[in-house]
Amino acid sequence: MYRSHTCGELRDSHINTDVVLSGWVHKTRDKGFVVWVDLRDRYGITQLVFDEDRTSKELLESARNLGREFVIQVNGSVIERASKNDKIPTGSIEVLVKELTILNTSKTPPFTIEKDTDGGEDLRMKYRYLDIRRNPVKNNLIFRSKVAMEVRKYLSQQGFIEVETPYLIKSTPEGARDFVVPSRMNEGQFYALPQSPQTFKQLLMVGGMDKYFQIVKCFRDEDLRADRQPEFTQIDCEMAFVEQEDILNVFEGLTRYLLKEINGIDVDKFPRMTYDEAMKKYGNDKPDIRFGMEFRALTPKGGTFGFDIFDSAELVVGISVPGCANYTRKQIDALTDWVRRPQIGAKGMVWVKYNDDGSLNSSVNKFFDEAALLDMATQMDANPGDLMLILAGETHKTRTQLSALRMELAQQLGLRKSNEFAPLWVVDFPLLELDEETGHYHAMHHPFTSPKPGQMELLDTDPGAVRANAYDLVLNGNEIGGGSIRIHDKETQSIMFKHLGFTPEEAKAQFGFLMDAFQYGAPPHGGIAFGLDRLVAILGGQETIRDFIAFPKNNSGRDVMIDAPAPIDTAQLEELHLKLDI
Ligand code: AMO
Repeated sequence: MYRSHTCGELRDSHINTDVVLSGWVHKTRDKGFVVWVDLRDRYGITQLVFDEDRTSKELLESARNLGREFVIQVNGSVIERASKNDKIPTGSIEVLVKELTILNTSKTPPFTIEKDTDGGEDLRMKYRYLDIRRNPVKNNLIFRSKVAMEVRKYLSQQGFIEVETPYLIKSTPEGARDFVVPSRMNEGQFYALPQSPQTFKQLLMVGGMDKYFQIVKCFRDEDLRADRQPEFTQIDCEMAFVEQEDILNVFEGLTRYLLKEINGIDVDKFPRMTYDEAMKKYGNDKPDIRFGMEFRALTPKGGTFGFDIFDSAELVVGISVPGCANYTRKQIDALTDWVRRPQIGAKGMVWVKYNDDGSLNSSVNKFFDEAALLDMATQMDANPGDLMLILAGETHKTRTQLSALRMELAQQLGLRKSNEFAPLWVVDFPLLELDEETGHYHAMHHPFTSPKPGQMELLDTDPGAVRANAYDLVLNGNEIGGGSIRIHDKETQSIMFKHLGFTPEEAKAQFGFLMDAFQYGAPPHGGIAFGLDRLVAILGGQETIRDFIAFPKNNSGRDVMIDAPAPIDTAQLEELHLKLDI
């Protein structure tokens, strides 16, 4: 028997009990006549004590020679500690060791196995198995497991069936590049790894499965960010005989359940906002609504602002930053520089201070007298004490820039509180999106999303205006889920493919299986997929999903621990019928 108890378990009630513990040597303290060892496992830390009087000289000597991260087993009895440590649950006891077995030695780890480690990101990723021994990473993985369990519990209680779908498939368009796998048995042919199980879950609806879910890996070859990994996990769901309202209700139920079970928070009915409204008010389709600073567009009073930058702009729009009218020139300059960085791309920024005493001054005093500034303040619903920040230019770009500024300010002002949760449904997304480079429309969500009833005709005349039965679930400014009601008849799906630029032959070659299935009694259906990594990170009060993934990739898509991707040898290349000219 390796252990009778874990290292997090022993309390006063165990005093005088004989126990067996196994774990890692976290720390050793040598006082000469007595040696203390902190023994660690997943559950906590227990202090072991060795001394000449009560144990033996040899044992004391062996304890003295234990290295950090050695794996040991001890037999001993639980005794009361002389000086108690109320910072840890086992802090009132220690184990007086009678026998010590070294189960394995350890090299000195390259960084400290502590909450705040001295190891940099790269080093910790290379030795991720050691990083996982640290409490923050370990706790995140335990947290993730708990969330996934609760998801399974809730959905199975609601009658959902978990079905596995294949990983070696044909391309499923979700807007990213595919990872492909060469086929040895089919020369010159490739599987694609699923960007999502989208088509399979629709086929399960045709198969009558009715309520499906799967916690499933998805693969997307796209640029990486804090909230994106090339392989990530979805809670993928689909239901038959449902309308948008049914889906929103079921998955609002799931999210509310998770917020209650995991975070102990009761949330009212989730607000809903159309895509157009979100863009207008926040310049973003995933607004963080935990704080205000809503956008206000400015219009000139007498037909013109008399300020060329505003007059020539498609949109003049600003935010009022509460309580920041006292910002110094230096602070405002820093914000101006921030919006001018290439990543944001604004040409400049106008500021207006609405001082506490009601007076106003601005960066454009030359063009606007106090009455005109007051009119701006009125249009912007600003209050004395607010700092108004205004951008002007092309509508979409300006909104995106102001949205970035709004989020940056919220961050700086501490308004993005990690223990506050503000879910939001964003609905009525455009069906199509214009690709400015190619001039072609592509599906904003994916090609299987249905247009709103009665809008098919618009596809020919004003494709950009068509709205879809598509929705996103946003939590604290992050898109944590997205879905739609699907097209379920061959005719409509063919028209959709045509508008997306597929010839009938191409549509048949790529999606013939789905169109065929639609001819055999496909029920009306729809669904949603949550990003599990994102959901877990946000419920855990963070935004970087890497910290909640056991073995993540770095920003170049590499696993630095196993050193992948890596070249393969010529024999393997040949077997796969691949020739590389490099
Ligand atoms: P979508 O593409 O919106 O929809 O993806 C669903 C959710 O998955 C998460 N997500 C990601 N998480 C981490 N890294 C990534 N690279 C990444 N990409 C997406 C997001 C997103 O909201 N088949 C449809 C769903 C449906 O229509 O039912 C789909 O995949 O949280």
